[in-house]
Amino acid sequence: MNTKLLTQNDIDQAAAILKNGGLVGIPTETVYGLGANGLDPEAVGRIFAAKGRPQDNPLILHVPSADWLERWCVDVPETAYVLAERFWPGPLTVILKRGPAVPDVVTAGLDTVGMRCPDHPVTRAIIRAAGVPVAAPSGNTSGRPSPTTAAHMLEDMDGKIDAIVDGGPCAVGVESAIIDLTVDPPRLLRPGGVTLEQLREALGDVAVDAAVVRPMGAGERPRAPGMKYRHYAPRAPVTVVTGEPEKSAAYIAAHAQAGDGVICFDEFAGRFPGKTVERLGPSHDKGEQARRVFDALRAFDSTSVPAIWAQCPDPAGIGLAVANRLNKAAGFHIVEA
Ligand code: TXA
Ligand code: MG
Repeated sequence: MNTKLLTQNDIDQAAAILKNGGLVGIPTETVYGLGANGLDPEAVGRIFAAKGRPQDNPLILHVPSADWLERWCVDVPETAYVLAERFWPGPLTVILKRGPAVPDVVTAGLDTVGMRCPDHPVTRAIIRAAGVPVAAPSGNTSGRPSPTTAAHMLEDMDGKIDAIVDGGPCAVGVESAIIDLTVDPPRLLRPGGVTLEQLREALGDVAVDAAVVRPMGAGERPRAPGMKYRHYAPRAPVTVVTGEPEKSAAYIAAHAQAGDGVICFDEFAGRFPGKTVERLGPSHDKGEQARRVFDALRAFDSTSVPAIWAQCPDPAGIGLAVANRLNKAAGFHIVEA
């Protein structure tokens, strides 16, 4: 298959591919998604094949506005509209009770479905033109870092999908926050661009699923099935170093071997001679760290570094999402400096 590169002007062409059961890479504010008609089980099946994604990992449905929720979900709670009003379009997925029109293959048989309204005008226009909710996981091969540019998505999906719409680099850089609204209190399943602090301000009590902050033990099941996989993993083993930036930099300088890879805050980039260095952004700018984290992990795949060391921000704000992605890349191999 020849994967076409489309531009922001090719909305009708992208929508036509979706309506015909094809696969299209779509830009969102978080990461690029691999979209298919969410009502067409065969098209959705092709997503799993193109990514090499386990069948037990459900997909989220993308809609252009909150008034589509009633079509695909049942018993939509008031909290969904409270969040949609504040944060949509934006980097937040809500888990709701699934309506009868949603195919089994989308939800991996669960009785709930993830719903998200992405903050990218081109993708919302494509969904509107297609007239169907678009099922879309992140556009990477399963197990690789999520793509934040069309070029990164092409690296993984060239020849496997019909087209990729280039909508520019992603503004947030990590995937959406996922909150389960079918339980009381609502539960954060994956931290993302809408922060835990913002969700608590909007809803009051919000629980945090254990899978956000630690690895799942044998026999334990995270509520978001995808959180059990060692995602975002570059080929070399990763060690995350937490603590004050000065201390974590000193720890890495003392422990990394010649030839190792280092992901560090910008101001420490000169501290690691003889190492391959990727910058995560300034230590005070977590937004930039979120935009950079997947690119930094992905960059090491084209190198032969035997090990990677990463500085990690504190968990306040979007730091929780950055730390979670680094920790998952490291298989939660974390040391405190
Ligand atoms: O920002 C995003 O959310 C991106 C862009 C493309 O929208 N999408 C994305 O999809 O990250 P994906 O499939 O890579 O991650 C979705 C996560 C997975 O961990 C999956 O297990 C979980 O959401 N999930 C999906 N449906 C669920 C459900 N009904 N209950 C619990 N978790 C669910
Ligand atoms: Mg993903």
